Amino acid sequence: MEIVYKHQMDWISHNEGDTAQLARVLARHLNPGDVICLYGTLGMGKSVFARALIRILADDPALEVPSPTFTLVQTYETGRGILWHFDLYRLRTPEEIYELGWEDALSDAITLVEWPERLEDFLPANRLDIHLSETPGGGRLLQIEARGDMKDRLSLPFSLDVSP
Ligand SMILES: Nc1ncnc2c1ncn2[C@@H]1O[C@H](COP(=O)(O)OP(=O)(O)OP(=O)(O)O)[C@@H](O)[C@H]1O
Ligand SMILES: [Mg+2]
Repeated sequence: MEIVYKHQMDWISHNEGDTAQLARVLARHLNPGDVICLYGTLGMGKSVFARALIRILADDPALEVPSPTFTLVQTYETGRGILWHFDLYRLRTPEEIYELGWEDALSDAITLVEWPERLEDFLPANRLDIHLSETPGGGRLLQIEARGDMKDRLSLPFSLDVSP
């Protein structure tokens, strides 16, 4: 068990199961109104993280979580209210986000965003950023940083128990 006191940390994930473990730890700290941004190039594991987090929050390990590649957004009922899952790869302009229910998502839902770079200036200041990249062994490095008011909340000590 590792106790983490910082608002920032690096996590090596060797496989999808490791990513699900991290999602489970972070899920404990999430409340309606929170935004999680998933950065990383094609195939870095953003959707794997999103799917794991949604299944945990919905308490349904078999829940279908397709990538909203063409609809750009999909909503889910979870134990902590509605969750909005955005995949903004095909967003044409940042302003277009307002046609997708963005304000409703931010006001009272947990919001997960793949390709947050597409939002440019509309990226919220209060958010949890997760940058995903490939490790030499074929796993993934997840660099996590809480920003704005998320920083104060996630600066509380929290434990990462990686045992099965
Ligand atoms: N932690 C991990 N370790 C090893 N492989 C992983 C890990 N996470 C994801 N992968 C693999 O990476 C591939 C792509 O994952 P995923 O679809 O989540 O990527 P993505 O970032 O959402 O890509 P895109 O931007 O194209 O949607 C999958 O085959 C998945 O098994
Ligand atoms: Mg994806």
